Amino acid sequence: MPKGEIIAGFLAPHPPHLVYAENPPQNEARSQGGWEQLRWAYERARKSLERLKPDVLLVHSPHWVTQLGHHFLGVPQLRGKSVDPIFPNLFRYNFELEVDVELAEACCAQARELGLVGKMMRNPNFRVDYGTITTLHMIRPQWDIPIVGLSANNSPYYLSTEAGLEEMALLGLATRRAIEQSGRRAVLLASNTLCHWHFHEEPAIPEDMSQEHPKSYAGYQWDMRIIELLRQGRTHEVFELLPSFIQEAFAEVKSGAFTWMFSAMGYPEIPGELHGYGTVIGTGNAVMEWDLTRPSHAVN
Ligand SMILES: [Fe+2]
Repeated sequence: MPKGEIIAGFLAPHPPHLVYAENPPQNEARSQGGWEQLRWAYERARKSLERLKPDVLLVHSPHWVTQLGHHFLGVPQLRGKSVDPIFPNLFRYNFELEVDVELAEACCAQARELGLVGKMMRNPNFRVDYGTITTLHMIRPQWDIPIVGLSANNSPYYLSTEAGLEEMALLGLATRRAIEQSGRRAVLLASNTLCHWHFHEEPAIPEDMSQEHPKSYAGYQWDMRIIELLRQGRTHEVFELLPSFIQEAFAEVKSGAFTWMFSAMGYPEIPGELHGYGTVIGTGNAVMEWDLTRPSHAVN
């Protein structure tokens, strides 16, 4: 069996508004559109994914919170209705997905080997969180690629940001080792928003874009600074700034997906491709790609 590899990573945020705005048949709520810049960004990312043709998509979601350990979806087929508890008016999505249980089990075993608490989720009626579903729908609405779902252990919140993110880096390393042993060509999805300051009231028409703009100017400036560094491939600097960014912009990357993905990829100092940026209820969202298959981008 050839050695498996991570062929790309995407920053792939999960505002349910994007699914709502697209009106797919799986979602019960109907809209008149909205958030087009971000949806067009995802259209570009979808084309990249089509070209990359991965065997599996791995997604780490802030909204599958586990207090004890890092959990992995471990049921071959899952179906049900995923509802956003904050926006049930926008997101009631009937999902049906296939899990690469073999790879999930390998990730779990590798995580344990590195000293993390790992656990397989075996409940056949498990309701997959809206973060996982939104990211997967937006990047691959066909649902024809098996997935591995990873929970967000709450350690950055009940320990410290630094201690929690150290765990996420270990989880990334475990993920990389499992992928290499599996022979799979894998794409990683970090389901994170950037600046997370948000409005507390929804407009009468949620998709009224005349009401949509950054909640915080300082948060917007932070987002532009981080994106510009990522576009230049200055990964090391981004991770030096990450604790300040998290604190000052209330950035959702605190929950770990971003660190998990970059650790798994070996923190490549390569330019990220920005597919687009936009706000959702005032939060900052970027869709970005790191393609590791380009010759100049190969990571050892
Ligand atoms: Fe979120």
